[in-house]
Amino acid sequence: MKPIDLRSDTVTLPTPEMRRAMAEAEVGDDVYGEDPTVNRLEARAAEILGFEAALFVPSGTMGNAIAIRILTARGDEVLVERRSHVVRYELSGLSVLSGVMPRMVEAPGGHLTPDDVRAAAAPRAYYKSDVRLVALENTHNLGGGTVQGVEEVQAVVAAAREAGFRVHVDGARLWNASVALGVSPAALVRGVDAVMVCLSKGLCAPVGSLIAASRERIEEARRARKLLGGGMRQAGILAAAGLVALETMIPRLAEDHAHARQLGEALGRGRGVEVGPVHTNIVVASLEGRPAPAVVAALRERGVLASAMDARTLRLVTHRDVSREDCERAAAIVEELLA
Ligand SMILES: Cc1ncc(COP(=O)(O)O)c(C=O)c1O
Repeated sequence: MKPIDLRSDTVTLPTPEMRRAMAEAEVGDDVYGEDPTVNRLEARAAEILGFEAALFVPSGTMGNAIAIRILTARGDEVLVERRSHVVRYELSGLSVLSGVMPRMVEAPGGHLTPDDVRAAAAPRAYYKSDVRLVALENTHNLGGGTVQGVEEVQAVVAAAREAGFRVHVDGARLWNASVALGVSPAALVRGVDAVMVCLSKGLCAPVGSLIAASRERIEEARRARKLLGGGMRQAGILAAAGLVALETMIPRLAEDHAHARQLGEALGRGRGVEVGPVHTNIVVASLEGRPAPAVVAALRERGVLASAMDARTLRLVTHRDVSREDCERAAAIVEELLA
């Protein structure tokens, strides 16, 4: 039997509608700005996110790297939560590609607060490097898919403005936050300088992310993308799937969230298991007395794929390619194993 793959929502496969749209996509040379499908995707993403312009990039990692590069100068610091993707899973991209340093703080659920921002602002001294950018992550992956609400984001943005900092949002799963809160994606990024969103996770597109910002910043981002080797030619083949993702795949994320809650409840019944809050499609559980890699191996033997985030932390992620029945079966297996 096919294993139930709960390692990540990045394992999702493109839908039949995406494959059809890819086969039929009208394309051109996007480095000349002549790919009509890429242009449509960028315009639509900008509209959905409430910005003047957007840029299609190959991955979320490149999108974050470009956003950080255009919003900072060499020697700056970036205020970031210590478990954020940009510092945990994107190598030393901040320092290698932008010449900046992370200033890491620990925040509950992964979400920085206005106090974190104010603490990073003062006191200044000529021998201290300055924070220039605040990088948020919504939802927060290692925080357990946790959501930062509109008011909380607005409070951070206001504190950042007061301190003279810019704000970037790693919104790889901004769609999940928007569905969980019942607010528009644009409401979650109002007033920030740039946002990166992914099409390739819960939305099931095979490849691709976008950065949205002002027109001027997107022109800088286009130069930075080229510098990193990310100028793509007939990329409309990929953008076509991205358009299907944006237009049709967002509301169904609610199903993934319901499945995650079900898994979270099953895990919570386990002995010595502490489950973090399940806001969206990610369930993070800390295991007492049982190494997470051993639990992952035991689950694999029983046909369930999960991830160990560290020695004690287990992560399960729901997505379109695991059905309700799959999740029920996985929940029963997890419960039995951890009883
Ligand atoms: C929060 C977050 N940001 C950025 C990324 C990077 O996206 P990609 O894998 O497309 O480079 C990921 C990937 O899982 C992520 O979870």
